[in-house]
Amino acid sequence: MAPIRGFAAFSAVFQLSMVRAIRASNAMAAVGPARASGAGGMANADRSAPCAAAVTPIRKGQAMNASVDIRIKQDGMGAVSAGTATWSDAVAPAPKLPDYLVDVYTWAYVAPRMVELLDREIVVATILWCQQNKLMRAARDELEPGSRVLQPAAVYGKLVSHLAAKIGSEGEYHVTDIQQVQIDHVNRKIGTLPQVRTEISDARTTGDGLYDTVCCYFLMHEVPEDYKRDIANNLARHVKPGGKLMFVDYHEPAFLHPMRPIIWLVFKWLEPFAKVLWRRELKDYVDDASEFEWRKETFFGGLYQKVVGVRRG
Ligand SMILES: C[S@@+](CC[C@H](N)C(=O)[O-])C[C@H]1O[C@@H](n2cnc3c(N)ncnc32)[C@H](O)[C@@H]1O
Repeated sequence: MAPIRGFAAFSAVFQLSMVRAIRASNAMAAVGPARASGAGGMANADRSAPCAAAVTPIRKGQAMNASVDIRIKQDGMGAVSAGTATWSDAVAPAPKLPDYLVDVYTWAYVAPRMVELLDREIVVATILWCQQNKLMRAARDELEPGSRVLQPAAVYGKLVSHLAAKIGSEGEYHVTDIQQVQIDHVNRKIGTLPQVRTEISDARTTGDGLYDTVCCYFLMHEVPEDYKRDIANNLARHVKPGGKLMFVDYHEPAFLHPMRPIIWLVFKWLEPFAKVLWRRELKDYVDDASEFEWRKETFFGGLYQKVVGVRRG
């Protein structure tokens, strides 16, 4: 018990420190005038340079300072690179990074250096309060060897390799993400496995035919309401009769859950689209929810949930 309590305390301190550090860097980034009513009211980079983002403030038309720390641009093929981009360097618009990804999650998923830095077991364990293996097993238990599985966003940690192993070489594991930097990272992580196919695409439109299981793992809490609805409906359309639509994500913890105030702060400051999952059921984002048989399981005092809809045959 003592080591678990110790790790929980470490995790709490780590998460609150992250909140402080990221809020401080966001405050610095917010000094530029290029702000609009982006999703959630967050700072909004100028979208005339659709796929460019910077952690430090840069104004349109202003050459980026060579000392700027992290620079990201995504070209028309989705390639993301760090370099000395200027706004005028931005090339073809597709695929466009959504505002919420640029404004809220650049530090976590867009900046190539951070992708390498954060995709570590210790980081995943800290963020998920050591529940990462339990949640991964919960997802893996829903899959059958030899089946066809769609995962509409990359995930840090061991999930991809574990699900690939369960699906096996007779199946197909289609992993997609809206960013090339994440797809490259997944490819590096798992190497070449015959069952794995990676592709850059938006979860609102991703998918290729029907799947036995669609596994949406910790994506829904990161996207605004309109994306939640569009993603859920798109994923539902790709589930074959008898197949499963699975969400693993946050959920409202028990009222006296010791982590509740910390998670509340993390959501308030770092994850502005997450807290709605405390009051709204994931299945309610699916328009044709009645075409599925739903079940829900919660974990770790209610902080996490797995929701599975089995499409009626
Ligand atoms: C699944 S979520 C995070 C999961 C988990 N918190 C973790 O630690 O990995 C993060 C991924 O979602 C991707 N993503 C965000 N919005 C997306 C969208 N609309 N379509 C596809 N991928 C998206 C990001 O590029 C990022 O790689």
